[in-house]
Amino acid sequence: MSKDVIILAIESSCDETSMAIVKNGHDILSLTISSQIRTHANFGGVVPEIASRMHTENITFVLEETLKKFKGTIADIDAIAVTYAPGLLGSLLVGIECAKALSLVYNKPLIAVNHTMGHIYANNIENKITYPTLALVVSGGHTDLLILKSENEMQLLGSSIDDSIGEVYDKVARVLGMTYPGGPNIEKAAVKGEDTYKLPKPMQDDSYNFSFSGLKSYIVNLVHNEKQRGNEIRKDDLAKSFQIAAVDEIVRKVTLAIKNTGIKHFVLAGGVSANKYLREELSKVCNQNNVKFHVPNILYCTDNAAMIGCAAYPLYKEKKFADFSLNAKSSENIKLYIEKNK
Ligand code: KG4
Ligand code: ZN
Repeated sequence: MSKDVIILAIESSCDETSMAIVKNGHDILSLTISSQIRTHANFGGVVPEIASRMHTENITFVLEETLKKFKGTIADIDAIAVTYAPGLLGSLLVGIECAKALSLVYNKPLIAVNHTMGHIYANNIENKITYPTLALVVSGGHTDLLILKSENEMQLLGSSIDDSIGEVYDKVARVLGMTYPGGPNIEKAAVKGEDTYKLPKPMQDDSYNFSFSGLKSYIVNLVHNEKQRGNEIRKDDLAKSFQIAAVDEIVRKVTLAIKNTGIKHFVLAGGVSANKYLREELSKVCNQNNVKFHVPNILYCTDNAAMIGCAAYPLYKEKKFADFSLNAKSSENIKLYIEKNK
């Protein structure tokens, strides 16, 4: 394909209203992210009804900003991409309806993008994904380990069987009195702490699945019990011990996948991949095993529409366009996505 492909992408699956204009699946020509974090922080987590209302209020402004920063016009845009799954139903619908309106008014094809695929494709922004590669998605909603055999073929190795790693970071932060989203606050506290708490190891099997709910419940109970006894909780130490326990388990499963598959590339993705300790530990294990480690710039790890524009590019090349019956699929995880696309 010789002509440049320019895609306007929309992301509104959770608490970020974002739009981007992306050239050829990697070149970010314009990006706007309007975060609702400060509003939701007052409630200790994302309130779905407030999130969809705020998307509705913000989306036109985000579109205006994105077009203003773009050195072109809507006529230069080849397609409109939008996250349709997974996420909060009302929030997804705001983005979808906006995408449909733009597609109809400007007569541009519509591309439906799965949010988890977006996180993975953020790895094309600074480098190009080399296939086959192992991929680990660690976000607020999911923990998935996959093999990407080619642009169109993937195999799910394992997922979290209960809470996602991001959820557990947020829950542990909450019980320690830290604001939402908890991940970055746990990370900051852990830097100041020592690994002095003895915590249970998350899952001792040799499958590629993850389980973090036992570790989470142990910490929640520990904090409540210590409070009831009037004992002090060493928050920084507990944050450090938690982070080591959780990351150790992730590293163990990734090492297993590297050894068993012999694959020489690894891509990390999702909001929790902004965590420096996780990045360092996974990078180390990749180096030790002669595997090339890739992770997006921190800006592209948490939710943004640039990654949606990247993931839409291969779909554009294959002419996989959606029609106006496109609907939100709040619980279409990567397993369902792979089955649907077989
Ligand atoms: O990918 P994301 O922005 O949204 C979802 O698709 O879920 O991920 C959000 C999650 C939250 O749980 C947040 O606490 C976590 O990513 N997160 C982090 C860090 N930055 C964001 N967790 C650990 N360390 C961080 N630096
Ligand atoms: Zn996300």
